[in-house]
Amino acid sequence: MAQTFKILVLPGDGIGPEVMAEAVKVLKAFETSGRKFELRQELIGGCSIDATGKTVTDEVKQAALDSDAVLFAAVGGPKWDNQRRGLDGPEGGLLQLRKAMDIYANLRPCSSTSPSVSIAKEFSPFRQDVIEGVDFVVVRENCGGAYFGRKVEEETYAMDEWGYSEAEIQRVTRLSAEVALRHDPPWPVISLDKANVLASSRLWRRVVDKTMATEYPQVKLVHQLADSASLILATNPRSLNGVILADNTFGDMISDQAGSICGTLGVLPSASLNGLPEDKTLKTRPYGLYEPTHGSAPTIAGQNIANPVAMILCVALMFRYSLNMEAEAQRVEDAVRKVLDSGSRTPDLGGKAGTIEVGDAIISAL
Ligand code: NAI
Ligand code: MG
Repeated sequence: MAQTFKILVLPGDGIGPEVMAEAVKVLKAFETSGRKFELRQELIGGCSIDATGKTVTDEVKQAALDSDAVLFAAVGGPKWDNQRRGLDGPEGGLLQLRKAMDIYANLRPCSSTSPSVSIAKEFSPFRQDVIEGVDFVVVRENCGGAYFGRKVEEETYAMDEWGYSEAEIQRVTRLSAEVALRHDPPWPVISLDKANVLASSRLWRRVVDKTMATEYPQVKLVHQLADSASLILATNPRSLNGVILADNTFGDMISDQAGSICGTLGVLPSASLNGLPEDKTLKTRPYGLYEPTHGSAPTIAGQNIANPVAMILCVALMFRYSLNMEAEAQRVEDAVRKVLDSGSRTPDLGGKAGTIEVGDAIISAL
C-alpha cells in the first residue's frame, strides 16, 4: 500500500493562492506509486473572514492537528485592515493556528549554498567573501517570552513581562540539538541570551547548559551574548555556522537580520515545529507548519508576477522536517538553484518570468 501523507493547504490572501499553486505543483511531482499526498485546502485570514466571519474556524484548526504537515502562504490586506485587529484579524488566524498546534520553534535556514543565497551575488548587501560558506539555521522560541507575557499599557507607563519557564526552554533546546544531530559531524548549538543583564536569560543559560550536558553531550554548545551575535552576523557570519538558538525576541531580530544576507524576501522559507519526529520526549505527533517569510503582497496580487520560490522552498523544508524525505528536499533545492541561476526569475529578482513560468521551470529542472 502506498504511504499517504495528509497535507493541509492554506493559500490565504493576496499572492498566497498564486504562490501556493506552484508549491502544490512541485509537491505533486514527488508522488510515486509508493507515496501519495492527500491534500485538503481550507480558508484562513481575510478570505475566511469573508466566508465564515472568522479568521480561522475550529474545523480548520482541527484539520491542522489531523495532518502530517501544513503549508501556509500568507494572509491580510488593506480590505481587512480597519475591520478587524489582533487575534480576530487576518494575521490573528495564523497566531491562533500556531497556538492550537503549539509550534514553539521557528526555523529559518540561511546558507550560501542554498537557493536563497545563490542569488546573493546580486542582491546581498554583503561582500561575497564575507558570506561565502555561511551555513546556519536559526531556531527561535516562538510561544513564550516577551511577546506572550503579561502587559501593562497606561498613558505614561508600559510593561511587557519577559518570562520563561524551565520546560519552555528545555523543549526548544532539545529541538535545536536534534537539528544539530542531523548533521555529520553534529553542528554546534550557539545559544543567544543577555545573561549579563536579564534574569530570564540567566535561567535560559542554566537550562540550556543542563539540557545539553545531560541529554546531548556529543553536541558542542556555545553561549553568545545576543547583541554581539548581531555584530558577528554582520562582520563574520561564518563563525555562527551551526544551530543558532534564541528566545522569541532575540530570535525575531537575528532571523530577520539573517535574511539580509540574501537580501530579498521572495526566496526565504521558514518552518514552525513542535518537535522533530526523532525526539523521544514528544507526547503528541510532531506538528509542522511551513510558510514563506514574506506577506500577502496585495499590490502585486493577481498579476502572475509574485515570486513562488519561498513557498516552493517551504515544500523542501516540509520534506526535511516533517516527512523524513531529506533526499527529496535536496532535489527541490537543487532545482530551484538551477532555475534561479539560469535567469528564469520573477520581476522582484530582476527577471521577466511569471509566477507560473518559474513554477514550470522548477518542475522541468526536477
Ligand atoms: P509583504 O511581504 O507582503 O511585502 C513587502 C514587499 O515585498 C512588497 O513590495 C511586496 O510586493 C514584496 N513581496 C513580498 N513577497 C513577494 C513575492 N513572493 N514576490 C515578489 N514580491 C514580493 O509585506 P507588507 O507589504 O508589509 O504586508 C502586506 C500584507 O501582508 C499586510 O496585510 C500584512 O499584514 C500581511 N503580512 C502577512 C504575513 C503573513 O501572512 N505571515 C507576514 C507579513 C505581512
Ligand atoms: Mg520579524
